[in-house]
Amino acid sequence: MTLILTLLACFQASDRVLDIMELQGDPVAGDALYQSHCSSCHGADALGGSGPDLVDEMSHSTERFLDWTLYGKSSDMPAFDEVLEDQEIADIYAYMETLVEE
Ligand code: HEC
Repeated sequence: MTLILTLLACFQASDRVLDIMELQGDPVAGDALYQSHCSSCHGADALGGSGPDLVDEMSHSTERFLDWTLYGKSSDMPAFDEVLEDQEIADIYAYMETLVEE
């Protein structure tokens, strides 16, 4: 039973992810936040560095992107849930969207 509940929790977007998706992100602020928190691993243009290409990742769901950003993915991808505010994460996501449209 515990296992089933744990699995369900993993596949459901957290309340915080849903809250962030409701926000209007500012891509200009997001660019600056991206450069200071993410570019060292994902590259200045988000096309990858020691970490994977995030522009490519944008073709997958918003939930998945935000979930990994908040809670980390592996020991190499840090969690940002205690580093960034909801609005800051929405801003970074809005910036990522501008990279896809280009
Ligand atoms: C210390 C290096 C590092 C920093 C800083 C970092 N990441 Fe990552 N990130 C990684 C690595 C490495 C992976 C791949 C992890 C894996 O596949 O196990 C990853 C994976 C991801 C993924 C999943 C995509 C995929 O293809 O695996 C997302 C989304 C992501 N990072 C977003 C961000 C965002 C947004 C920031 C800034 C707020 C950030 N990361 C900062 C290293 C980093």
